[in-house]
Amino acid sequence: MTTTTSTGFTAARAPGAHPLIGHVPALFRDPLPFLRSLAGHGDLVEIRLGPQRAMMVCSPGLFHQVLTDTRHFDKGGPLFDKLRWFLGDGLGSTPHEVHRRQRRQLQPAFRPDALSRYLEVMSEEARSAASGWQDGAVIEVEQHAYQLIARIITRTMFSVDGSSAAVAEIAAAYPEFHQGIGRHMRSPSRWLDRLPTPANRRFRQACSTVSREVDAAIEDRRREGTGTGHDLLALMIREGLSDREMRDQVVTMLTGGIGTSASALGWALFFLSRDPSLADAVAREARAVLPAGADPDRDVPDRDVLTRLDLARRVVTETLRYYPSAWFYSRTVTSPVELAGRALRPGTAILLSPYLIHHRPDLYPEPERFDVDRWSPARRAELSHGAYVPFGAGARKCIGDVYALTEITLAVAVIASCWRLEPLPGPVPRHLLEPRPWTVIHPAPLHLRLHRR
Ligand code: HEM
Repeated sequence: MTTTTSTGFTAARAPGAHPLIGHVPALFRDPLPFLRSLAGHGDLVEIRLGPQRAMMVCSPGLFHQVLTDTRHFDKGGPLFDKLRWFLGDGLGSTPHEVHRRQRRQLQPAFRPDALSRYLEVMSEEARSAASGWQDGAVIEVEQHAYQLIARIITRTMFSVDGSSAAVAEIAAAYPEFHQGIGRHMRSPSRWLDRLPTPANRRFRQACSTVSREVDAAIEDRRREGTGTGHDLLALMIREGLSDREMRDQVVTMLTGGIGTSASALGWALFFLSRDPSLADAVAREARAVLPAGADPDRDVPDRDVLTRLDLARRVVTETLRYYPSAWFYSRTVTSPVELAGRALRPGTAILLSPYLIHHRPDLYPEPERFDVDRWSPARRAELSHGAYVPFGAGARKCIGDVYALTEITLAVAVIASCWRLEPLPGPVPRHLLEPRPWTVIHPAPLHLRLHRR
């Protein structure tokens, strides 16, 4: 039954719960169709995860309320504790009262002046990735996207050059590290995670590589002395963070910034491969906008490159609407509160899905159509407030939002300007038509054939 409140929001219970396990099979087996179905029931929909009840937020207004009302809602809820085990007390996992100080300390690494400095690395790495490919070859796109994005983030956060061992080691270990976190979050028991299976062994190896490289980068930087450099490490040393705090923050940045951006880049290239005329238009725009000479000083794009790469940017915006990498996360109620007329007790789990919001047909007509024209100025102006939330909202909004948009847009433009990406013959594989996400919605494996432009 659906109830409407004085605020106009509706609350309901989702149908189809199994007696003992509730909606677990629907949410875990085929989450995206399940999420799409929930918005039809109300603005706040109660679902059951086994014996636990959780409230799924289905309207932009409530989504915004939960993310901005820090008096009643904080980080927490299903899966969060497991993620925290990996991320420690990094920016993404600390409670609000600690978070405010941490965010103030780290924000300078994402300010416009810092982003301008990162542009050179982003552009150099995208060009280097695109120039290493062979005409006619078939590549698995997400692997390359992971490498590219991991190299960019390691180089920009540690200020090391492209030949540094840390860059190569972290880029090589990261896919396994990220997948392993996903597996461990899904796993019903810590005991299973400790079994010496090949997957667990690979994960442990990846964890020790990431730890070793992060620790070495911190140690090197301390040896060089404080006060030098403008990157994340320099900033944290100046702010007086301990080694442990620095480590948690670096691992948080790598974890928050690699899988999300790499899967978005993979999906953007997938959508371009399905629409050759759009890909040609992106290539034309990129050739007109990006500097093309052989002089590395002149080849660095300037800060308003994103404005001039309008079509590439719209491809990325629509990709993050269609498949927002951070598709599902949670909050917990910290003090009694009313939401859509429901009185919620402390400890109630609140579930948030940008994917669900982005696929509401009343907010986005024909939501299952990839349509870059949605982001023309006129249509963008018609969009409801809070309807586009790939980076969250409020005090915990992604610190790397502009960084991510810049690196992905540049990568899409550079790659599209050099290569036409062609799908392999035959039907589109099911995992690309109806992906089953875990930590992020990712398109792997995605095999495409390269044709030099
Ligand atoms: C397409 C790429 C990205 C997407 C879709 C994305 C999405 C998000 C979302 C939705 C949140 C908020 C989660 C919540 O409220 O619980 C978040 C937080 C965060 N993201 Fe991103 N992110 C991306 C890229 C990045 C990058 C490149 C970095 C770092 C370089 C980064 C670092 C972080 C951090 C540290 C937080 C926690 C912020 C805080 O609590 O203050 N993200 N991200």
